[in-house]
Amino acid sequence: MSFELPKLPYAYDALEPHIDARTMEIHHSKHHAGYTNNLNAAIANTDLDGKCIGEILAGVSKQSSAIRNNGGGYYNHDLFWKLMSPDGGGKPSGELQKAINDTFGSFEQFKEKFSKAAATRFGSGWAWLVKLSDGSLKVCSTPNQDNPLMDDAEVKGTPILGLDVWEHAYYLKFQNRRPDYISEFFEVVNWEEASRRFQD
Ligand SMILES: [Fe+2]
Repeated sequence: MSFELPKLPYAYDALEPHIDARTMEIHHSKHHAGYTNNLNAAIANTDLDGKCIGEILAGVSKQSSAIRNNGGGYYNHDLFWKLMSPDGGGKPSGELQKAINDTFGSFEQFKEKFSKAAATRFGSGWAWLVKLSDGSLKVCSTPNQDNPLMDDAEVKGTPILGLDVWEHAYYLKFQNRRPDYISEFFEVVNWEEASRRFQD
């Protein structure tokens, strides 16, 4: 059994003008497809064949870099697409809103911290809002396609929000202006999905 490239939950141009259609198309149909195909090739005929992605990531420190990079890339992008929506933006509500306010002081302070983590990640990687095992929240970033589900992650937990800061995610529209891309991301964040993940 192999992993399949997940369908985007909206059209390539649905996040315009914040995230452009050409970037979405290449990001999904080339980059995400590449991670998916390479993951399948890396696990073929191994004992990981047939395991779910969560299981693979939870033991990834013992695996090859191909499994780490492509397993992370497969999972992270699937999550990333779901965490954006043409109806997104604004602020979280309910329990997630309360937890963000309790941890960071306010939504604005959270946004500043998350944006800084995304902007200062050197090279390629991701910024995360993570729910730790004690239920508290933390902002962090990871290099490459690493994520907080990996057994050797510095901050381990459930990703609630994730932002891809690889240049392939923004260079066509924003060139080197990563901070502009980060602020546009907040215009399309699917807070309903983030809340659902927080409450699960
Ligand atoms: Fe990406």
